[in-house]
This record gives sequence, structure tokens and C-alpha cells, in this order.
Amino acid sequence: MAKNAEPQEKRFFSQFEKLGFYGSDAVHLNAGAPGTELLRMLPPIIEAATSHLMQNELEGDAQIFQYGLENGHWQFRSFLATFLTEEYGDAVSSEQLFLTGGASSGLWLILSALFNSGTVVFVEDPSYFCALKVFSDLQMKVVPVKTDDYGIVTDDLQEKLAEHFSENPVASHPPLKALIYLIPVYQNPTGSVLPEGRCRKLINLAQKYGVTIVCDDVYNLLHYDDKPVCPKRLFAYDNRFHPDYVGNVISNGTFSKFLGPGLRVGWMEAPKWATEMLEDFGVIGSGGGLNTYTSGVITSLMALGKMKTHLQKVKTVFKTHMEATADLLRQELPPGCKLKSPAKGGYFLWIELPENIDALQFLPFAKQEYQVTFMPGIRASPTNSFANYMRICISFYPLDVLLSAVRRLCRAISDFQQRSEDDPNFLESYANSNKINI
Ligand SMILES: Cc1ncc(COP(=O)(O)O)c(C=O)c1O
Repeated sequence: MAKNAEPQEKRFFSQFEKLGFYGSDAVHLNAGAPGTELLRMLPPIIEAATSHLMQNELEGDAQIFQYGLENGHWQFRSFLATFLTEEYGDAVSSEQLFLTGGASSGLWLILSALFNSGTVVFVEDPSYFCALKVFSDLQMKVVPVKTDDYGIVTDDLQEKLAEHFSENPVASHPPLKALIYLIPVYQNPTGSVLPEGRCRKLINLAQKYGVTIVCDDVYNLLHYDDKPVCPKRLFAYDNRFHPDYVGNVISNGTFSKFLGPGLRVGWMEAPKWATEMLEDFGVIGSGGGLNTYTSGVITSLMALGKMKTHLQKVKTVFKTHMEATADLLRQELPPGCKLKSPAKGGYFLWIELPENIDALQFLPFAKQEYQVTFMPGIRASPTNSFANYMRICISFYPLDVLLSAVRRLCRAISDFQQRSEDDPNFLESYANSNKINI
């Protein structure tokens, strides 16, 4: 062992290991990523794709090891366009694709390359908790917008837009007055899918007010119904063949959720004005794009047809997990609790608890007494609302572990309610252990 090796307690491979998700007695239903069962499917296919790529590079100029093209090399974008066209059931143009280091990297790039700090960002309440941190890091001005069971309430958005800006008599080009950040399909944390009428209204509002909608379309491909294609992404509602087309939507996709987050590869589907600005961004020019080598491995995976097969396998596993978990919750959630998610795709189930239960207080109890954790709803709220909500995730554990944890969670809720009623001092005994990683 090298002398400068880190102490035992600091030797981690991953963020999740650091958070204690591996080798723990508790089951962490807050873990929003593929787990070991699925990641172990990757080495053989990544090995095959790597061999394929290396053979090509030996025969060519080995340019995969060169500074890449700003928007990603043409083969990557071309194979990705074909793959997405089939999965979305809607034409994706390789010219509108831009290689990223995943959706987080895409969001950061959009915010830094296209917008100034202090820009207003309209955000669903609740939303993806890490995106809220990105907005705060970049000193964006967050304006929360109401949601209901179907997603963002467009009437509330309209009111808030009108409070901040006047309508544009002519379409703004580029539409950079403000930004709307959304997860329209299989939302994080609620799992909701935005209905068609609201999608159309959103496009209309974005055009009227000269703002850009950035969608994290990271769960779209994980749909568990019998339809051959997933719900239509918002990007497709912004008709690029219309004579007045400006392009008010950017769709941010990723391989993290159905392949592996460690690959750090994703894509943006964006209008021309946006891809041009991104290509011209200093860090992209200087570095020659993002993750060129890994995008090469992923290109080979698609060229060999292995991406599609893998996605199919992952969907089959997640569908079973999602349906079995939702069924179990419907049967075993105590009275006063409600499963809010449609459970038709993605990773998450959103649960409403009785109003007198604070999920943050319940969390240490559930962990200590029932060895199960979840994400308290308040974490996802820019207004610190949703205190009596929790998000659980179906992707990380094998089915038997997942279901037995969900069963324990349901029992824990009843027990917590009962004990809080019986003993007013009961909560205090858990107060000190409240420093749980959520
Ligand atoms: C809505 C949303 N956006 C982005 C991400 C992160 O994506 P990536 O791993 O591609 O950075 C997640 C992961 O939880 C997410 O739920």
C-alpha cells in the first residue's frame, strides 16, 4: 500500500458509497441511479464496444484520442439521432444534437454559456433537488411555480411570467429573457407526465415572453406501458418546420439512467441559435468538446445494436419494479397516505403522508427502527413545502430487497403515527440522529 494512501474511512469509489448506500443494513430508497444488478450487465457490452472502437481507431487516424469536435463527433450524433428517432417515434436531427457530460453538465453549460447570473428561472415546485443547487451556485433568481398531479400549472406560470415581463409583440431571437426549467416526462420527484394541452400552452407562453424552456428529459426512454414509443418530449411541440420557428426548447438527455452514470455522457437537442452559442463557448472550444473518448465507446455500442437491447432489458427490470412497488404501496400504505404517482415510467414514486407527519422527522425513525430511508419531499421544494411527502426510487435494489423495504416503510409509518400519538416526547429521542444523508 502506498504511503500516501487515504485513511480507510475515506476510501470510496463513488458518491453513493460515501453516502453509505453500499454495504449498509438499511435500504436507501432515495438512491436515484441504476444499482449493482444492472451495472454488472455493463462490463461485457462495454468491452465489446471498446474492442470495436479500438479496431476502428487502429485502422484510421485514432482521432478518438484527439481534441474532439465542439458539438460531438458526427458519428456519435448520427447514431444517436437514429436511436432517439426510434425510441421517441419522432424525427431527431443529428444537427440539433450536442454532446454533453450528462444532463447535469448540459444544464450547467446552458446556464453558463447562454444566460447571465441573476437571470430569472421559473421552476416547478417540487423539482429536481440538485438542479435547485445548480441555480443557487450560479446565482440565478429562482421563481417557484405551482404543480398539481399532472405537473406544472401553466396558469400559475402565466401569472408569474406576466409579473416579471411584458409580452413580446414579435418573437425574441434568441429567447434569452428568462428560463423555465422543467422535467415534463416522469418528473423527479413526482413521476408525473405533462399533458398535451399544457405542453402546447408552455410553447405558446415561451414564444410570447421570449424565454427558453430547458427540459431535463432524462427518464423519457424508461416507459413501462405497452406503447412502442415514450411520451412526446416538449421539444417536439415546438414545431421546427413552422415559418416563424425560433426554437424555445432545449431537451437535455443522458445515458446515466439506463446505462451508467459513471460514463458521464449525455446529449442536448437544441435549436441552431443555442448549439452555435454553445460551440462558441470558450471552455468547449479549448477542450474540444466533452467526453470525446467515452462518446466513441457509446457510438460503438449503438453501432453494434447493443444499446437498444440493453435499454430493453433495463426497461423490463424497472417495469417489474415499478409495478410491483406501486401495487404494494396501494395495498399497504396506512390510511391517510396516498400514492400520488401514475407509476408508468421513470424512477420515482411520490407519496403523500398525513398532514401531521413531517417526513424529515420520520426519516431517522424509519432508518433506525425499520432500516429504510427515502427522500423527504421538502428537499425538492424551492419553497420548503411538501413536508409531509416522500420520494422513493425503484431502480437501485433487486426486487426482493426493494419490496421488503417498501413493506417495512409502510409499517414504519403506522408505527410512527401510533407512537407519536401515545407519547408526546417520542420524537425527541430521534432528534439527535436527524443528521442522515438524504
Ligand atoms: C431530473 C434530473 N436531471 C438530471 C439528473 C442527473 O443526470 P446526469 O447523471 O446525466 O448528470 C438527474 C438524476 O437524478 C435527474 O433526476
